[in-house]
Amino acid sequence: MTVGESLDFSHHFSEETKARKSSPLKTCIHLFQDPNIVFLGGGLPLSKYFPWDNLQIESPLPPFVNGIGESPSGDDKDTCHVEVKKNEITKAGDTNDIQLSRALQYGFSMGQPELLSFVRDHTQLIHNMKYSDWDVLATTGNTCSWESTLRIFCNRGDTILAEQYTFSSSIYAAEAQGINVFPVPLDEHGLIPERLETILDNWNPETKKPKILYTIPTGQNPTGSSMSDERKVAIYRIAQKHDLLILEDEPYYFLQMDAYQKDVSQRKETEFASHSDFISSLAKSFISMDTEGRVIRMDSFSKVLGPGTRLGWIVASKKILQAYIKLHEMTIQNPSGFSQAIVAGTLNRWGQGGFLDWLIGLRREYNEKRDVAIDALYEYLPETPALRVNPPTAGMFFTVNIDASAHPEFATKYQSKPELVEQAIYDKVIKSGVLVVPGIWFKASGDTQPPQPAESKKELDPNGIFFRGTYAAVPLDKLKEGIQRFGIALKEEFQF
Ligand SMILES: Cc1ncc(COP(=O)(O)O)c(C=O)c1O
Repeated sequence: MTVGESLDFSHHFSEETKARKSSPLKTCIHLFQDPNIVFLGGGLPLSKYFPWDNLQIESPLPPFVNGIGESPSGDDKDTCHVEVKKNEITKAGDTNDIQLSRALQYGFSMGQPELLSFVRDHTQLIHNMKYSDWDVLATTGNTCSWESTLRIFCNRGDTILAEQYTFSSSIYAAEAQGINVFPVPLDEHGLIPERLETILDNWNPETKKPKILYTIPTGQNPTGSSMSDERKVAIYRIAQKHDLLILEDEPYYFLQMDAYQKDVSQRKETEFASHSDFISSLAKSFISMDTEGRVIRMDSFSKVLGPGTRLGWIVASKKILQAYIKLHEMTIQNPSGFSQAIVAGTLNRWGQGGFLDWLIGLRREYNEKRDVAIDALYEYLPETPALRVNPPTAGMFFTVNIDASAHPEFATKYQSKPELVEQAIYDKVIKSGVLVVPGIWFKASGDTQPPQPAESKKELDPNGIFFRGTYAAVPLDKLKEGIQRFGIALKEEFQF
């Protein structure tokens, strides 16, 4: 299939982006690697003054026969040995390692080529890209990617759209830059396209129209919901109609699981006969349906390899990535060279198939953790229509929805204000020795001046509140104990 080029979205760039010049020094830095040039151009320290001569790392070896949670024995049978040298070129699968003399030097704002080529192949394998001029750019994770995105596209006083409950750091990063985050309602299948369309069709013409929809489609933080493929198609169409860019923030994409089955005897974990079976089981991504370069995808190694790698990547059209490169030349420059050398050295030895084996192993682990959490919620939470447990199909979070009006003192002590009940439950759970967090912490509630019509701000369930918990952070016995404490706190508070 022949695919076309991306469209030009430079009309969406911020004033800051339009004003930003390329650093002239960065335009010649590649000549540092050219043996025919005597490089007297920049303050690059000689690599002989880098104190590290080599890096040696062990990780488990695909196909991870002992599961992904076991430490490697050191034996070649189950251990992947990575050795990266300062000056010597070492082999990593079909490619080379990133020598430390280069990894620890300035340059390569896009990221090191050996890492980028792995990430590019992975992107094509998973998303089967639908336009020709796309590329990837290494970042220090999605927190950085989002902060850069806001700078690249938004001016102070702009408004962006996001799921009504969303990752609080993303809201605060926007608000700190003077950007409103206008909420779009979501349910267990993710953001609701009809509500998005109503908001945009009725956008107050006296205010600047949003250019960006920020979404966490898979294992949404905080609700745990995952957006259906049909909704993504509908949302992409609305984005085309209203000239919106879609920012998909997908750190949980590979934590997709089987649907929760309450009856243990009916539980059967999916076994994948091949890697392509696994790939076909994954939710459709926005980037995979994008023919125009309208989607910017933010991916991260944080949840699949380790948050401290501080390594992630952006997939977008080359035209858009140019703006990120120019910004990063002035901000992060590039992710840590150690991190890139270690991660690329490991992944290039594992190969694309080995990385998929790792992700399949991770899926298995999270399936089990999710099942233990949801079983415990059904066991320990009072059975009443006032509470709803939402078993997620992806990510790290479960939520429990609560009808605040079911509280015996809703109208009296709490003056019919759901947020006061939410605070009282929070205080109670902390006293009971468990931490689950109130949904209100994640609520986007920005508006424009003059405001948007009342219809655009209608709540799905005005007395509904929810709490978010995770099954990722503690071992299974602690998880059950925590959920039992949560159940006791709710019973006492509501006198169920
Ligand atoms: C939706 C979302 N985006 C981004 C992040 C942060 O990702 P990173 O570690 O890649 O910066 C998180 C982490 O909790 C998250 O939930």
